Amino acid sequence: MVKLAPSMLSADFSRLAEHIKEVENAGVEYLHVDVMDGHFVPNISFGAPIMKSIKKHTNLVMDVHLMIENPDMYIEDFVKSGADIITVHQEACIHLHRTIQNIKSYGIKAGVSLNPATSLVTLEEILPELDMVLIMSVNPGFGGQSFIKSSLDKITILKKMIDDRNLNIDIEVDGGVKVDNVADVVKAGANIIVAGSAIFGKEDVKRAVLDFREVIEKI
Ligand code: DX5
Ligand code: ZN
Repeated sequence: MVKLAPSMLSADFSRLAEHIKEVENAGVEYLHVDVMDGHFVPNISFGAPIMKSIKKHTNLVMDVHLMIENPDMYIEDFVKSGADIITVHQEACIHLHRTIQNIKSYGIKAGVSLNPATSLVTLEEILPELDMVLIMSVNPGFGGQSFIKSSLDKITILKKMIDDRNLNIDIEVDGGVKVDNVADVVKAGANIIVAGSAIFGKEDVKRAVLDFREVIEKI
């Protein structure tokens, strides 16, 4: 089953709990929590305290995407603040295996994300340890960017890598996913779809979620 993960980055921060409730009531599964530090990516978003406050108002799965340097320093904070899945960037982790074990030691799911220019080859050894791989289909840092088309081949190859090894790993895709390209993303092998501007950025979030569902159901 394909899951929808609206990105909080595009939500109205002045009425965050209410806006998140709207997407929850529209029937999405995950809340994608984009954490940016102004170093790993050229933008600053929010940290664990904001997520902790939100957690009290929603039952959505907290899907935390750490676009930060030194993620190990903050994993415990995010676990205590209610993270269900923590994804770190391959490019930000010198000791990726250690970082993944650290996340899993808290009994939550661990993911690794790759920037558009980072090869799938970098996942070969770590793949069996992962619950999820997050393919960035834009250069991380901002919502509302255009989908990089070569990401589709990357998703297809990743899906084959996972299936060839008989592994059970989710493929999440993040950046520039809209109603008009989500079918291609799902056909390539993704089963968790992040959408920021295409859901929270819309006036009618319920309609936006239904539009995604209609396209996905037809695949
Ligand atoms: C980009 C973030 C994304 C972003 C997606 O750095 O990781 O999650 O918010 O936003 P859209 O769907 O608008 O590209
Ligand atoms: Zn993200």
